[in-house]
Amino acid sequence: MTDPGQFIARLPKAELHIHIEGSLEPEMMLALAARNEVRLRYGSVEAVRAAYRFTNLQDFLDLYYQGMSVLREEQDFYDLAIAYLRRAAAQNVRHAEIFFDPQGHTERGISFETVIDGLWRALKDAERTLGMTTGLILCFLRHLDEASAERTLDEALPWRDRIIAVGLDSSEKGNPPSKFQHVFRRARDLGFLTVAHAGEEGPPDYVRQALDLLGVRRIDHGNAALREPDLVARLVRDRIPLTVCPLSNVRLCGVPDMAAHPLRKMLQLGLMATVNSDDPAYFGGYVNENFQQAHDALGLTREEIVTLARNSFQAAFCDDAVKQRHLAALDAFVKA
Ligand code: ADE
Ligand code: ZN
Repeated sequence: MTDPGQFIARLPKAELHIHIEGSLEPEMMLALAARNEVRLRYGSVEAVRAAYRFTNLQDFLDLYYQGMSVLREEQDFYDLAIAYLRRAAAQNVRHAEIFFDPQGHTERGISFETVIDGLWRALKDAERTLGMTTGLILCFLRHLDEASAERTLDEALPWRDRIIAVGLDSSEKGNPPSKFQHVFRRARDLGFLTVAHAGEEGPPDYVRQALDLLGVRRIDHGNAALREPDLVARLVRDRIPLTVCPLSNVRLCGVPDMAAHPLRKMLQLGLMATVNSDDPAYFGGYVNENFQQAHDALGLTREEIVTLARNSFQAAFCDDAVKQRHLAALDAFVKA
C-alpha cells in the first residue's frame, strides 16, 4: 500500500481521548432538539457550523455545554454513542476509551443512570456488532468545585464496574489538578485508574501536579510539558502516554497551524504520543483526519504513523490479552 491516506485509513488504532458529547454532530443536535422540544439558538446545520469559530478553550466549552442540552433521554445517549462508535469502527478504531461529563447532565436534572445506561448499551452493542473493545472514563468538570466531583463519584458507585477510570476536563486555566486531589485519592482507593487534561492551555506545572497529586497513568494533551526539559525527561523515563489532539490544538489556537504542531517533535523526544480527535464534531475531523492532516503538514513517516498507532494500544487501559490481540493485528497489518 503506497498511498498514505489508504494506509492511515486501514491502520488498526485505538482512540483514547474522545469526549462523547463532543461527537454530537450538528445534524443530530438539531434532530434531538426537535425530538425533545429543546430550543436552540440555531435554525440550521449551517448556522451551527458557522458558530464554531474559537479563539481559545473557553469559547469552545461555552458552545459545547449549550450543545449537550439537547441530550435528555437514555435513547439520546445511546444514539450519540453508537453514531460515534460506528464512525470509529469505519476508521479502523479497534479500541475506544470514551470520556463522558456526567456533571454536564446531572446539573441540568438528567439522572446519572439515564446517561450511563444509554452509553453502556451503545458500547455493548458496538462490541457485539462491530467487534471493537471499549471503555468508559468519567470526567470531573474542573470549573466546578471538588464537592461536586465527590458527589459525582458517589453517584457513579452503583455502576462501578462500567467505568475504567476517572479524568479531569473543562476550563484548565485557574483550575489546577491540586483542586481535586482528595476526590482522585478516593477514586484510586476505589480501584479506578486516573487521567487528567493537563498542559492544554495550562502551564507545565499542571502536568507535574497531575502526576504527583492525582496519580495519573496518562496525560490528556500535555503540550505544555515541552517547555520544560526535566518534565519531558520524566515523561519519557516513566513512559507516560500523552493523548494528543492535533486538530483540537489548531482549532483552539494552542498552535498557530498544523505545521507548527509539536506531534513529530514529541516522537523525536521519545515521548509516548498518541493521536486522538477530542471533540470531532466541533474540530473538523475524527481520528483519521487527525492522522492525515498531521501527516500532510508535518511530513510524518510511515514508521512514525505506525509508532503512533502502536502507542495507542500500549497506552490503552484494557487487559493484557486484549492489548496483545490488538497489537498482533497491527503487526499483521504492517507486515502485509
Ligand atoms: N471538554 C471537552 N473537550 C475538552 C478539551 N479539549 N479540553 C478540556 N475540556 C474539554
Ligand atoms: Zn479533551
